[in-house]
Amino acid sequence: MAKINWKPGNMIYPLPAALISCGSSPEEYNLITVSWMGTICSDPPMCYISVRPGRHSHEIIKRNGEFVINLTTKAMAEVTDWCGVKSGRDHDKFKESGLTPLPGTIVKCPIIAESPISIECKVVEIKELGSHDMFIANVVNMVADDRFIDPQTGAMSLESAGLMAYSHGNYYEMGKKIGKFGWSVMKEKTRKRLKSEK
Ligand SMILES: Cc1cc2nc3c(=O)[nH]c(=O)nc-3n(C[C@H](O)[C@H](O)[C@H](O)COP(=O)(O)O)c2cc1C
Repeated sequence: MAKINWKPGNMIYPLPAALISCGSSPEEYNLITVSWMGTICSDPPMCYISVRPGRHSHEIIKRNGEFVINLTTKAMAEVTDWCGVKSGRDHDKFKESGLTPLPGTIVKCPIIAESPISIECKVVEIKELGSHDMFIANVVNMVADDRFIDPQTGAMSLESAGLMAYSHGNYYEMGKKIGKFGWSVMKEKTRKRLKSEK
């Protein structure tokens, strides 16, 4: 087997293909599909999205200093792609996609009713990196669909949400669970019990 050097590029996959909602009033509301995004700090909870300066959403997010990361599912795959190839300059993306805007709790941007999790963010810094500007943000609220909250424990379970992932130009539905955090170092007894519970 041989290893091949490849020219520098981005090959960190899979990633989410999230729908970012922005705008502070219905006339301004917009949606943009983003994959260049991630968590950057647990406490305080912080994340980033990277957006090209030419995008209609870039201007809106910069002006308002707010956006919402809405996780996407298999059922939302087609509209997620559509929002990633059409611009809000020419389309009312909420209206034309059929996605439902609901008011955010802390931010003025809408959240998407169809999304299982919406993460409300306030921008703290914009880093101009080259092709993309990185919007570094504090997470100020999370809205979860109660379908994914266990009524007994109150814990969130995203396993049944059908979250989608983006990898090298393609969309995927999340697959089979193969382990859990810390599982590699669990006592044999606990491991066996978890296996038998499956
Ligand atoms: C799967 C996918 C991921 C994308 N990721 C990004 C991204 O991370 N940053 C970005 O600026 N554009 C990204 N785009 C492109 C924008 O979503 C696209 O240019 C969109 O039409 C911009 O909309 P707007 O002009 O209404 O803001 C992505 C598109 C797709 C389909």
